[in-house]
Amino acid sequence: MRLKNRVAIVTGGGGGLGEGISMCLAREGAHVVVSDLKLELAEKVAAKVKELGVKAMAIRTDVRKPDECKEMVDVTIKEMGRLDILVANAGVDGLPTGDATASPLIEDIEEEDWDLVVDVNLKGVFMCNRAVAPYFKEKKSGRIINIASVAGRQGVDFLAPYAATKAGVISFSQSVALQMAPYHVNVNTVCPGIIWTPMWERLASFASTSLPDFGGAPPEDVYSLVVQSMIPFKKDQTPTDIGNAVVFLASDDASEITGQALNVCGGMRMN
Ligand SMILES: NC(=O)c1ccc[n+]([C@@H]2O[C@H](COP(=O)([O-])OP(=O)(O)OC[C@H]3O[C@@H](n4cnc5c(N)ncnc54)[C@H](O)[C@@H]3O)[C@@H](O)[C@H]2O)c1
Repeated sequence: MRLKNRVAIVTGGGGGLGEGISMCLAREGAHVVVSDLKLELAEKVAAKVKELGVKAMAIRTDVRKPDECKEMVDVTIKEMGRLDILVANAGVDGLPTGDATASPLIEDIEEEDWDLVVDVNLKGVFMCNRAVAPYFKEKKSGRIINIASVAGRQGVDFLAPYAATKAGVISFSQSVALQMAPYHVNVNTVCPGIIWTPMWERLASFASTSLPDFGGAPPEDVYSLVVQSMIPFKKDQTPTDIGNAVVFLASDDASEITGQALNVCGGMRMN
C-alpha cells in the first residue's frame, strides 16, 4: 500500500502496458484514471481496477490534443479530488500504416507516418506534462513518469521514427525534471524492453512480412527469436514488470530520484 489514496492518471491505459501499470498502481492503493483514445478499452480496464477496491474512472483522451489533455487533468481533480501521479504511456509504433509490406527504409517513410508517431509519442508526452505542470507546481509535489523505450537508448534499423521519439522523451523528461525540481516534483522515464502487447503483435507481423531476415516466419516465432537473440536474461518482460518500476518511481522510496531513465529490459541495454 505504498500509494494509498494517491490519484494517478495513466494515458494509453486501455491495454498492453497501460493496463499492467494501472493494475500495479491500484494494488498499491492508488485510485486510477484510465485514459485512452479508445473509451471502450479504458472502461474495461477501469472496471478491472475497481475490482481491487480502489476508485477508478475511464476517460477518452487523445494525447495529441491540448484541450483534451487539459480536460483529462481538470476532470480528474474535480472527480477524484486530487492528482499525484501522471504516467504518460500512450504510444504508437510508427510503422507504415496501410500497406503491411511497406518498406521501413528512410527513403520510403511517408511524411504522415513520421508525423503520427512524433505527434503521439513526443508531442503527446509534452501535452500531458504541460497539462499537469501548473497543478503540481502549485501543490509543490507530484510524480511524472514518462514511458520511453530501450529504442530511445539506441537506434533500431526498422523503427527509425519510433526510436527518435523515444530518445526525445528521455531528453524532454530530463529538461522537465530540472524545471520541476524546485517544486519537489520528480520526473523520470521508464524504458521498457520487449513485451507481448498489441504493439508487439503488429511489430512481429510487420517484421515477418517486410524484413528478409525473418523469411515470413509466424509472428510468434519472430518475437521469440528477437527475445532470445537480444535479451541476456533470454526472456521477455511483462506489463507487471513495467508497472512495478512505475510504482517504485511513484512511491516515497524514490523521493531522491529525478531526471533518470530506468531500463526494464532484462539487460538488453545497459546505458
Ligand atoms: N510493448 C513493448 O514491447 C514496448 C517496449 C518499449 C516501450 N513501449 C511503450 O510502452 C507504451 C505502451 O505500449 P504498448 O505495447 O502497451 O502499446 P499498445 O499499442 O498495446 O497500447 C497503446 C495504447 O495507447 C493508446 N493510444 C494510441 N494513440 C493514442 C492517442 N493519440 N491518445 C491516447 N491514447 C492513444 C491505444 O489505444 C492503446 O490502448 C508505448 O509508449 C510504447 O512505445 C512498449
